[in-house]
Amino acid sequence: MDKYGSTVKIKKVIDIVLGSLFIVLLGYSFTGNPFHEAAGVLFIVIIIVHNIVNIKWYKAIKRGSYNRKRKVVTAVNLALEADLTAILMTGMINSRSLFHTGIHIAGIGRVHAVLALVGFALIAFHLLIHIFGHTQKKYRVLPAALAIGLSVLAVFLDVWLLPYLKRHFLTVEIHQETVISGESVDLGRKILTVYFTRTGNTDFADNVDAVSGASLLLNEKKEFLGNSQVLGQMIQDAAGGELVSINTKDHYPSSYSDTVSAAKKEMSGPKLPELVDMPENIDEYDMVFLVFPLWWNTIPKPVEAFLNSYDFSGKFVIPVVTHGGGGAGKSIEDIKAVCDGTVVEKPLEMYCDDIPYCREYVTDWLEKL
Ligand SMILES: Cc1cc2nc3c(=O)[nH]c(=O)nc-3n(C[C@H](O)[C@H](O)[C@H](O)COP(=O)(O)O)c2cc1C
Repeated sequence: MDKYGSTVKIKKVIDIVLGSLFIVLLGYSFTGNPFHEAAGVLFIVIIIVHNIVNIKWYKAIKRGSYNRKRKVVTAVNLALEADLTAILMTGMINSRSLFHTGIHIAGIGRVHAVLALVGFALIAFHLLIHIFGHTQKKYRVLPAALAIGLSVLAVFLDVWLLPYLKRHFLTVEIHQETVISGESVDLGRKILTVYFTRTGNTDFADNVDAVSGASLLLNEKKEFLGNSQVLGQMIQDAAGGELVSINTKDHYPSSYSDTVSAAKKEMSGPKLPELVDMPENIDEYDMVFLVFPLWWNTIPKPVEAFLNSYDFSGKFVIPVVTHGGGGAGKSIEDIKAVCDGTVVEKPLEMYCDDIPYCREYVTDWLEKL
């Protein structure tokens, strides 16, 4: 094979490796954070190699005339470069495992995810133009049509199917002690951390792992833990004080889907659930971290019941929301409507899949309070 032929072959291999790696990166829910970040760094390295191999394209960008096809290809490639740079920057800021920028921007993870889906569409277009670029004129719409089809598929897989499968069938094993332990922060306050989680308020079926593992964490003692519970434990480990859970008298169904339906029914009525094993009073605390999962875009009813049960005046209430992509939803205004304490407007929002990797982030966040 001549030099030109082998360069073309190398370029194709690089393109295929990049395309495949990008698909692996979209499977964040399944691969977990350390793998995702390492794969992201590898992706950037290969992108740099890709750009070096294709340096002639950049050199020729100002030369020659532009027909429609060249205009489209150039626009797609430049948009892809800009998108990949934005993905890199948001990824670095949101990093939990490899980098530690100390910058906190609420919702940056979601921006990163949206940019990744845009990137997928542009990569699909870029690759398909390479594959079909030399076909007859009448087939030239094929790359665009296929790229659009693949992008719709990617959105469906990444936004709905993968999180659905993750939530319904995957249990993530953690070493609890390692995950929750880290540096301490002295806030100079009497601190109470209160958490509500589905896990503590559900009688799981014996075969829960097979049928409805659903968003659960499993520790080294084979106990199920909830996301908000683990986040609450991290806050207590970092800031000290007491940790209490919100417990309901009636428990939620074992299956995730049934809990979602049960919560919807509960939340559409005025009745608050009965709580049990409550602290007698919370008078001695002046700062309360309220850790809860976002349910139907707001606070779960047991959290509302808890807020209704005590006098929070003179206390700082700091919401800490774990969520599946919805951020804090409208939980802050709903907390303010039922709580007479000083509710901190900017909550800590934590995407559920990030929780096993967010201990350092929690320290940074507490230091900035
Ligand atoms: C009943 C129910 C409703 C939910 N509604 C939302 C929602 O509206 N938006 C969202 O982003 N995530 C939603 N989720 C996902 C949870 O907020 C997320 O998985 C959370 O981390 C679970 O915390 P836990 O393990 O402490 O219960 C919902 C989960 C359940 C069980």
